[in-house]
Amino acid sequence: MIRAATKEALSEAARRIRSGELVAFPTETVYGLGANAFDEAAVASIYKAKGRPSSNPLIVHLDRIESLGLAADLEADSRATDRLHQLKHFWPGPLSVVMPKTSKIASNACAGLSTVAVRIPNHPVALALISKSGVPIAAPSANPANYISPTTAQHVAEQLGDAVGFILDGGPSTIGLESTIVSVVGEVPKLLRHGAITAEELRLIFPDLQINSPKISAERPLAPGMLKEHYSPRTPTRLWGHAAGKSSAGRIGLIAFSNDKFDSSDYAEVLVLSKDGNLEEIAANLFAALRRLDQAKLDLILVDSCPSAGLGAAIMDRLLRATARYS
Ligand code: TXA
Ligand code: MG
Repeated sequence: MIRAATKEALSEAARRIRSGELVAFPTETVYGLGANAFDEAAVASIYKAKGRPSSNPLIVHLDRIESLGLAADLEADSRATDRLHQLKHFWPGPLSVVMPKTSKIASNACAGLSTVAVRIPNHPVALALISKSGVPIAAPSANPANYISPTTAQHVAEQLGDAVGFILDGGPSTIGLESTIVSVVGEVPKLLRHGAITAEELRLIFPDLQINSPKISAERPLAPGMLKEHYSPRTPTRLWGHAAGKSSAGRIGLIAFSNDKFDSSDYAEVLVLSKDGNLEEIAANLFAALRRLDQAKLDLILVDSCPSAGLGAAIMDRLLRATARYS
């Protein structure tokens, strides 16, 4: 059931979290499928609803810096805690940080690892839900395992509606790509997943940050569960430049990043994500466009590309995964 995020709906959602049920909720990146991160049985139901392998850890969401210690052990590793402090100004925001975990966080939320990914999302509904619940909320993206992440409440309902009793609607996610993940544990800090907090911004803080290009990170998983094929539509999907294009038979859909460069008569469907190639607009619209064309009974989806710098690195990372099977 989709519920507008009124005060009453938020209280009901918080009650459900406290009693071990699942609640899907909006964040600025994508929608999450949440449960009480202290409750092993509640966390187990997240994996079940998504069909997610138990080896793929979740992100634990908090509502404020002062609560980080509920999930991250701030005493265990002073180097990690120092680095965490250097990243705090990105919160609330699209950044998840891998830290040593506390024993209170259910071990299945972290797939049995000694570390936990923590994030303070920048969305009023998510923050209100976490603070009303009074517990950290473990939440992966609210999609079936390996499918495209949801950026609206309707996306969640279409695919997980039977498994999730309660979907809070906070409008479309404004960023549209999953959070950047940085591990601050170990010799050097590592960028595990590209996102809206860019590698360039992080390098200013950590000159020794280990970064893999989106191409390498799509081919070799850096974080557990970050498989090469992730975020894939069911329809064969290729990067536009790599594809046979016009010579391919059948109904072809195109996702273009700007208004120029294509002849719409060549395609059964065309979605233009931004008039002028604006990366924020492309990111915000990308997952909804992939879903829409995946439902359009096409034989092939072609997707534009952009330079892998700044936010473009996160966009190309997701597209390399979405197209991995057919490139
Ligand atoms: O934007 C987001 O991060 C969204 C919203 C809901 O916050 N969540 C999200 O979660 O994208 P999910 O489950 O789709 O991706 C979480 C990824 C895992 O696949 C894994 O790669 C990484 O986070 N991760 C979680 N815990 C980790 C840990 N302890 N060490 C390394 N990587 C971890
Ligand atoms: Mg996900």
